[in-house]
Amino acid sequence: MDFQLTEEQLAVQAAARDFAQNELWAGVIERDEHQKFPAEQIKKMGELGFMGMMVSPEYGGGGMDTVSYVLAMEEISKVDASCSVIMSVNNSLVCWGLEKYGNEEQKRKYLPGLTSGEIIGAFALSEPEAGSDATMQRTTAEDKGDHYLLNGTKNWITNGTTASVYLVVAQTNAEAKHRGINVLIVDKGMEGFITGPKENKLGIRGSDTCSLMFTDVKVPKENRIGEDGFGFKFAMQVLAGGRIGIAAQALGIASGAYELSLKYAQERKAFGVPISQHQAIQFKLADMATNIDAARLLCLQSAHDKDAHHEYAKSGAMAKLFASKVAMDTAVEAVQIHGGYGFVKEYHVERMMRDAKITQIYEGTSEIQKIVISREILK
Ligand code: CAA
Repeated sequence: MDFQLTEEQLAVQAAARDFAQNELWAGVIERDEHQKFPAEQIKKMGELGFMGMMVSPEYGGGGMDTVSYVLAMEEISKVDASCSVIMSVNNSLVCWGLEKYGNEEQKRKYLPGLTSGEIIGAFALSEPEAGSDATMQRTTAEDKGDHYLLNGTKNWITNGTTASVYLVVAQTNAEAKHRGINVLIVDKGMEGFITGPKENKLGIRGSDTCSLMFTDVKVPKENRIGEDGFGFKFAMQVLAGGRIGIAAQALGIASGAYELSLKYAQERKAFGVPISQHQAIQFKLADMATNIDAARLLCLQSAHDKDAHHEYAKSGAMAKLFASKVAMDTAVEAVQIHGGYGFVKEYHVERMMRDAKITQIYEGTSEIQKIVISREILK
């Protein structure tokens, strides 16, 4: 791995930093408090090329590498993790999956809109009884010749109410278990498809999460991604890459909380000196900085593995496992350093603490990451 970022990667990082600092800070507390979807901000992110970073220019994307994506995710997550989860699902799960495994017609139909931010995509795997155990799909896609008949419910779907296109995982042949699963492209507005109310969440409150309900939805056969029965592998593949994005999100939350803490500790005085002169605070800052650097190295390692076409399921799971713990630990310590101020919204760190928790849950809990890692090392 080359530890030196290229000029292009540095430029992407700087552009994401400028955008986040100048355009996301201002309304982030209000969006969080009122669960307001960042529609204008996402539109702008599309115009700046952050919604389809790794897609080739042929389909309207930025043609960038995964390292650049990680750098941008970190900068945006430092300020607003709600914006970055919308970005992450659109980039890693929807755009990347469609470009890698979709057919030419599917790519031409959906990618230009998704990469420009004109439309948003969602990935629907989780169900009331299938979260970690993703093979237990109860949603069915019955083969009816020229179409599938889709029935079932999906839960906790990011971009659930705002997406225009959904990649829905469903069981076609129960006997074949995970080899009988398909992924279908479902458009908003298809008859029989409705979305539930927005969930009232602990964190990432600007992003919209809801259930999806399918009742006899006729999905044309040409909306299936890949061969019959490829759906589970598709889901595993996009999630392996998605975990790199969520690791970068966790890294960004940690970096954001650390930067605010560093600044506060140098300004706030107690016992006659800035609190940064007290060893109790210095030790916290040292731990934060060390953990964040280690998390960044794991994120960049996994991104590099993906770019170099090396195996990346393990390094991505390691990055997510570690970075999400660092995000949680750092945000909790950031609140502690801020004392009473940390407990109120104006100082941002309480939001970061709430946002950090989801990085240990979605795209596979920390326990799932350990399953993925241990299977690889015991192979
Ligand atoms: N790439 C390709 N194929 C893979 C793969 C990968 N990374 N990982 C597994 N597979 C394949 C296996 O080769 C196997 O195929 P064959 O039998 O044909 O060889 C098949 O998938 C089944 O593999 P396993 O036997 O390992 O499957 P398992 O049932 O034991 O489960 C698991 C593995 C890792 C636990 C998996 O179920 C998993 O990842 N669960 C978590 C799901 C998850 O992340 N959910 C989050 C929802 S999405 C979300 O959160 C998005 C959002 O809104 C932000």
